Amino acid sequence: MFGLKHKDIFQIMHDRRSIRSFLDKPISKEVLDKILEAGFRAPFAAQLCSVVYTRDKEKAKSLSIGVYSTAPVFLVFFVDFVRLEKIMKARGYENTQDDMMSLWLGIQDVSLVVENVTLAAEAMGLGSVLLGATPMRARKISELFGVPDRVFPVVGMCIGYPDESDETEIRPRFPLKYNAFEDQYSNHSSEDIQECMKAMDEGYLAQGYYIKKRIKVPLLEGEEDGIGFDRYSWSEHISRKFRRRGESNPLFGILKKQGFVFDE
Ligand SMILES: Cc1cc2nc3c(=O)[nH]c(=O)nc-3n(C[C@H](O)[C@H](O)[C@H](O)COP(=O)(O)O)c2cc1C
Repeated sequence: MFGLKHKDIFQIMHDRRSIRSFLDKPISKEVLDKILEAGFRAPFAAQLCSVVYTRDKEKAKSLSIGVYSTAPVFLVFFVDFVRLEKIMKARGYENTQDDMMSLWLGIQDVSLVVENVTLAAEAMGLGSVLLGATPMRARKISELFGVPDRVFPVVGMCIGYPDESDETEIRPRFPLKYNAFEDQYSNHSSEDIQECMKAMDEGYLAQGYYIKKRIKVPLLEGEEDGIGFDRYSWSEHISRKFRRRGESNPLFGILKKQGFVFDE
């Protein structure tokens, strides 16, 4: 049914990788609804997640958030306070909780739905990739999809049938012993950190990930880049990404413009 792969749930989780190239094959409403129904079966704090999707590639591309051009469907997952506040109003209440607290719960709700959708899509023979720049384009997304204030985009997703000719490897992860601890958090030693870096860096180098994409996070002005693509790998990439500090946190400003209020 629906091209189901009949894979074991563990196999689905372990085989999953982000897909960035898709076949020119539409996703039927039936399949999409089945995936989304499964998505919204995720555990929830307050059902604070909504999704808007489009099959209009031009619309999706106009958001400038790196939507992959072959994706037949693009989805945006939102934290939705409006629906909850309408329910509260119907019961004669007003939402006076600090929006930071509510957002925290909302992002948890959205994350769980997103992961369920990712896995349900895999189970149906589809692939997906998330787009992290989505919140930065909140205003444009609101205009494009008629989204009111207090409904905020958390993440975007391209979804479709994978173009298997574009082979994508399964990316490495930190070894489990550096992620999961029984009873006591382990403050990683420098040897542990070396092991974490080794697992990721050797894995990405073996796959030729950055050299194939020819992407590097640029250094700051005046800094010399002594790391060639033969050595440029995940730990360098993520460190360069995270050390960049803008003038301020743009998200706060964007959230405030979208009707959110934070206690100081
Ligand atoms: C919140 C989030 C945002 C992401 N944003 C992007 C993105 O903008 N573009 C992209 O190509 N991949 C994006 N990804 C996919 C990650 O690059 C990918 O999950 C990671 O490299 C691990 O690879 P895998 O999913 O194939 O295991 C994002 C993933 C997450 C969880």
